[in-house]
Amino acid sequence: MDLNELAHLLTRIESEAAGAVSEARTADALRAAESKITKGPLAEAMKSIKSFAAEERGQAGQNINKTKQLIAEKFAAAMDALRAAGVASERKSASDFDPTLPPARTLRGGLHPVTIVQREVERIFSSLGFAVVGGPEMETEFYNFEALNIPAMHPARDAQDTFWLTNGWLLRTHTSPCQVRAMLRYGPPIRVIAPGRCFRYEAIDASHENTFYQLEGLLIDKDISIAHLIAFMKLLLREVFHRDVKVRLRPGFFPFVEPGFELDMSCAICDGKGCPTCKRSGWVEILPCGMVHPNVLRHGKIDPHEYTGFAFGLGLTRLAMMKYGVGDIRILNSGDLRGIVQPERLGGAKV
Ligand code: DAH
Repeated sequence: MDLNELAHLLTRIESEAAGAVSEARTADALRAAESKITKGPLAEAMKSIKSFAAEERGQAGQNINKTKQLIAEKFAAAMDALRAAGVASERKSASDFDPTLPPARTLRGGLHPVTIVQREVERIFSSLGFAVVGGPEMETEFYNFEALNIPAMHPARDAQDTFWLTNGWLLRTHTSPCQVRAMLRYGPPIRVIAPGRCFRYEAIDASHENTFYQLEGLLIDKDISIAHLIAFMKLLLREVFHRDVKVRLRPGFFPFVEPGFELDMSCAICDGKGCPTCKRSGWVEILPCGMVHPNVLRHGKIDPHEYTGFAFGLGLTRLAMMKYGVGDIRILNSGDLRGIVQPERLGGAKV
């Protein structure tokens, strides 16, 4: 090849590049066309330098490089133009966009009122040296009734009708089975609380659900008396409600405690005036409790002559209703976010 032929060749390559640039509509097409020309005809031209007479090689190289640079500049300019056009069209289509508007509100998740109250009570009792334990929702008849001094045929079983499973087990009606489980597992002295879900075969109304939460408490040690029980219960309510709560203590019958009490608090929904939630009495049963029955201690392999203790079964669901002013228990299991995210919106007195 000589310089003349090379000049022809380079002119052809340049016009090929100009054609490709004017045809390409996208950045990808542009990049592809550029690489096709540099790796194809331009690379060929480079290789042809060998075939030049020695004294012409320098000039040939310079000419090829000039073309190379020219082509690179053309493609770069075309790429810039394409980008500018893209931005302009995006701007045009986004002319409605107002950057000064606040962003759309993101809905953040929140904890369920029962979970909030549960964690609060766990925190209070943890600070008093209690361990938080669990227990199965699917229970045996033994732990749910028998070990709690409620033998078969005992009328107390009628008050806790439940869902029986085909394997002879049942859905626990309360968290009390965790008491004997804890005794057998840890031995005395014991300080545990056991929060969890319970079930009853129940006619549902504003204050009864077939699924609800309780929190069992158990303290066993030497020389524990009713005075300890009452002090703990009062402390608990004061911490949860951040004020002294009006309470009353009545004798209550539960086969697994002796003596047994019903600790009621003044209804926070109606301020003690009477409403469907408190069955128009102004009081809500919230903390049944008592001194652990010797038979229960024996089932837990603890000597009742050496140890005594108290137990309580806090109605967690009910406590959440009182704390947040939720007048109807059904809301808590309903998935109605108005009630669950902002319970106080559903009426009732906020505590
Ligand atoms: N388990 C009882 C219930 O669900 C509540 C209860 C009463 C628990 C007295 C206790 C207690 O620990 O001492 O009706």
